Amino acid sequence: MSVNKEVKRITTNTIQKLKSAGEKISMITAYDYSFAKIFDESGIEIILVGDSASNVMAGHETTLPITLDQMIYHAASVVRGCKRCLVVVDLPFGSYQGNSKEALNSAIRIMKETGGHAIKLEGGEEVLDSIKRIVGAGVPVMGHLGLTPQSIYKFGTYTVRAKEEWEAEKLKKDALALQEAGCFAIVLEKIPASLAGEVSKSLNIPTIGIGAGGACDGQVLVMHDMLGINVEFKPRFLRQYLNLHSQITEAVKNYISDIKSLDFPNEGEQY
Ligand code: KIV
Repeated sequence: MSVNKEVKRITTNTIQKLKSAGEKISMITAYDYSFAKIFDESGIEIILVGDSASNVMAGHETTLPITLDQMIYHAASVVRGCKRCLVVVDLPFGSYQGNSKEALNSAIRIMKETGGHAIKLEGGEEVLDSIKRIVGAGVPVMGHLGLTPQSIYKFGTYTVRAKEEWEAEKLKKDALALQEAGCFAIVLEKIPASLAGEVSKSLNIPTIGIGAGGACDGQVLVMHDMLGINVEFKPRFLRQYLNLHSQITEAVKNYISDIKSLDFPNEGEQY
């Protein structure tokens, strides 16, 4: 029997046990109550309320504009839909980079106002103090290395990270430092599969990959990408499980047509 099936509420301990048992961890993003409920009931282990909400929910080009208040709104909605899975909430850009006190205050707001179970933040050695302070206050922290979208203007591109030796070395060092600082897991985004494999092996805590190959301890995808809602985004790492864009378009076209042709509502669909 899998570790997941033995537990009522997934906790950071469960996530650690999954790694120890060699069972892969499943994570998906969600931003609202209804989708979170479906994902929770489907058996997913972790729901990430990602700051990708800035892109897929609000239509911004980057993740930078979303605010802490907006993340709290999304996260509280997601938490209301979940009975079982672990809900991790992104600290948005500008809510933790200032100093560790600011980071702790933002994490506390997330925990108090959303009912989420953990926070995620991006970066390596430059955020270690913040991670230690947040973990010290009893809040589980998920790290995020590799492609870190909140730093997009520093890098200027969304291409694969850590292909160069120096960047790979820095990532390996950062991963160990995040583990040392108390992170319970680390997202590895868009880095070579061999590097992700090496990092995953070197850590006791699990890695969750996105565009980082099959050797990570778990995988995460943005729901709009894997469900085919956002069809313009087609990176190589993405597996699209549905084409909701075309299914929804067809359904709405049928609805319009039924209204225009006086087919809807029919006698059975009125009082
Ligand atoms: O915001 C997000 O959705 C994320 C995932 C891509 C890991 O950080």
